[in-house]
Amino acid sequence: MKHLLKLQDLSREEILSILNLADQLKFERNNGIANNTLRGKKLGMIFQKASTRTRVSFETGIYELGGYGLFLSSADLQIGRGEPVEDTARVLSRYLDGIMIRTFAQKEVEDLAKYGSVPVINGLTDYAHPCQVLADLMTIREYKGSFKNLKMTYVGDGNNMANSLIVGAVKQEMAIAIACPEGYEPDKDIMAWAKANGDFTLTHDVEEAMANADVLYTDVWASMGMEKEKAEREKAFKGYQINSSNIKKAKKDVMVMHCLPAHRGEEITAEVFEEHAKEIFDEAENRLHAQKAVMVKLLK
Ligand code: CP
Ligand code: NVA
Repeated sequence: MKHLLKLQDLSREEILSILNLADQLKFERNNGIANNTLRGKKLGMIFQKASTRTRVSFETGIYELGGYGLFLSSADLQIGRGEPVEDTARVLSRYLDGIMIRTFAQKEVEDLAKYGSVPVINGLTDYAHPCQVLADLMTIREYKGSFKNLKMTYVGDGNNMANSLIVGAVKQEMAIAIACPEGYEPDKDIMAWAKANGDFTLTHDVEEAMANADVLYTDVWASMGMEKEKAEREKAFKGYQINSSNIKKAKKDVMVMHCLPAHRGEEITAEVFEEHAKEIFDEAENRLHAQKAVMVKLLK
């Protein structure tokens, strides 16, 4: 594994190996065991979009491992003034041991990896959010023991989260059902791959998708960069919500997950969110452990 650009690039075993390392790093941290595996390593973190979890978990994560993280806002980099990714990649590779990037186009992340000579980590694009899904898989395994015979249901936009969750679920042999409004489906190629390789269903009926689910997942109706579509999306997504009525379709011990930030009253009600706050914030914490594992795998 040279980069983390999207989950499709990782095998089932590579994903499990990251999750196992993340569990170990979490154990060490909880027990005050120092781990300086990345002593002296420098990670550049380019942000073209806002972030709370990704930024803070990468920055504290590399610090805890003995390394150093540089926050690089695109507003301050020459990339924000049009310097090509090809050049940025070659320059940053001369200074840094790794680059994390959060941006719009997946191609930009792929190009950074293509032209640079250090590991590149996708910290979210419009297409994928692999770091989030590694933390999600870690959390599911923590709560459920294994992925065996589990069904995950995702309610909402067929966005970066839906795309990466489909890939992550299929790779770990979980059944995955998506309920989204017409016209807001996940990536076509990912759906075709999931149909051919796993237990994947797509429906526009929320309750049908939720039936017997072990894990329910949702995300915002309008992702970063889609602010202009907010009003139109509020109409289209009405009903694509996890609430105390439809959650009854899922299993009694269902986990509810959300990558955050959450919009209460839209994709999830405040009531369900608070009832499942334990899972949701464990999931957020696990971003730290999962990302430390990714950095160790790539930068060591
Ligand atoms: N879930 C997630 O990536 O959160 P941030 O946008 O705060 O980084
Ligand atoms: N789909 C959301 C995820 C945020 C972590 C977005 O792209 O804004």
